[in-house]
Amino acid sequence: MSKEIFLSEDTLITSKTDLSGKIVYANEDFLKYAGYGMADVLNKPHNIVRHKNMPRVVFKFLWQYVKEGKEIFAFVKNKAKNGDFYWVFANITPSFDLNGNIIGYYSVRRAPNKKAITDIEKLYSQLLEAEKISIQNSITLLSDFCKNSQKSYNELIFDLQNS
Ligand SMILES: Cc1cc2nc3c(=O)[nH]c(=O)nc-3n(C[C@H](O)[C@H](O)[C@H](O)COP(=O)(O)O)c2cc1C
Repeated sequence: MSKEIFLSEDTLITSKTDLSGKIVYANEDFLKYAGYGMADVLNKPHNIVRHKNMPRVVFKFLWQYVKEGKEIFAFVKNKAKNGDFYWVFANITPSFDLNGNIIGYYSVRRAPNKKAITDIEKLYSQLLEAEKISIQNSITLLSDFCKNSQKSYNELIFDLQNS
């Protein structure tokens, strides 16, 4: 049976990827919570920790934002090597060279607000249901959810973490 692992308050899980999302760096906390050794993750696509309960639309937004040079916040359920899972509050940012070209991506994750996870699990299960019809359905649902809360996606996520 897979069980939930909780991040301690002082945990910062970080990783860097190349432009295609392959891991080029992972810190000690990343390896500890994911249960991998450095050699297992280097040059592997970041979906190595993807959990099946994560709606595709969240990653669609993630890639859209960072490719446009913007940061994004997200609550992500990740899967450890042994099948256990851990929730994180993540910030993903593009890294730029001196000419302003995007040269890779960077993510910092910390313990999520537990209250927020209850709300996010409800939203994610609705997004997963919508995805069964089409990804567009799920995009519309998430966009409408933001509109109804009168917040941008990032404001919504950031406010949930800090509520
Ligand atoms: C810097 C960075 C960090 C990422 N961190 C995660 C992560 O912790 N968990 C995750 O499932 N996907 C993460 N992703 C997204 C993955 O690249 C991928 O889009 C996602 O796992 C969905 O996989 P799929 O495209 O095979 O469905 C990250 C991407 C970037 C650029």
